[in-house]
Amino acid sequence: MTKNQGERPGSHDDHAVTVSGLSKSFGAEATRFWALTNIDLSVAPRSFTAIMGPSGSGKTTLLNCLLGLEKPDTGSIRIGGMDITGLGEAQLAEMRRSHVGVVFQSYNLIPSLTVADNISLPLRLAGRRIDRGRVRDLAETVGVGATLDRRPAQLSGGQQQRVAFARALVTDPELIVADEPTGALDTASSDVLLGLLRSIVTDLGQRALLVTHDPRAAAVADRVLFLRDGRWYGELRGATEGQIAATLTDLGRQP
Ligand SMILES: Nc1ncnc2c1ncn2[C@@H]1O[C@H](COP(=O)(O)OP(=O)(O)OP(=O)(O)O)[C@@H](O)[C@H]1O
Ligand SMILES: [Mg+2]
Repeated sequence: MTKNQGERPGSHDDHAVTVSGLSKSFGAEATRFWALTNIDLSVAPRSFTAIMGPSGSGKTTLLNCLLGLEKPDTGSIRIGGMDITGLGEAQLAEMRRSHVGVVFQSYNLIPSLTVADNISLPLRLAGRRIDRGRVRDLAETVGVGATLDRRPAQLSGGQQQRVAFARALVTDPELIVADEPTGALDTASSDVLLGLLRSIVTDLGQRALLVTHDPRAAAVADRVLFLRDGRWYGELRGATEGQIAATLTDLGRQP
């Protein structure tokens, strides 16, 4: 693949998402625990990367650093043309609103707002104009076009996660980050969400980072990165569910 293939119109190196030499520890000097050690990561445009690893291997910590929710000890993180490690709280909040879209296991929708207002909330918070047509189009893309006037409680779990997904896309972010987004869904709803993640990358030119414990979900990604004890353990490209499961088994077995 050539360097600029797949870049969205008008995008350039400012749109790189890169992590280099990232380390993150918790605790005071004597009891310091390194959750991440010297992590490098480059997320290309139009790419779909899954991150896997045992519980406690540092997956969520890495996403939290990317979102500016945790401050790394060392290293740099570039998103949207900025090294976010040097930003203050207000700038980080703005970065999260404008440059990244987030989907968690819990949908975190606002119960008192309609589906349409939940989807457009990031635009409202950023003080940006709300394009009702775009909100409707996004809702249709994720398959909840008929529910725009309903409240979250009137939707199934799978539908609520799709609304959360549309909300993550509404600002046209540089990066979509998903931490166990299918963790609370049944197989059919998981498949819908994974298909959507795949298609926003392939069809809309987004880039996605998915943390999952499920080899079946990770197999939808272009590459799978494995973390162990806060360090990269290995990587697979275009792997099947079986190959991913086998690597996870190896990772758990080796001392
Ligand atoms: N705020 C914190 N204070 C102290 N230790 C923390 C904190 N956050 C995470 N850790 C530790 O860092 C390590 C990595 O945690 P992290 O949540 O990133 O793991 P994970 O790979 O996401 O695990 P899981 O698959 O269970 O979600 C764990 O040992 C955890 O206990
Ligand atoms: Mg986690």
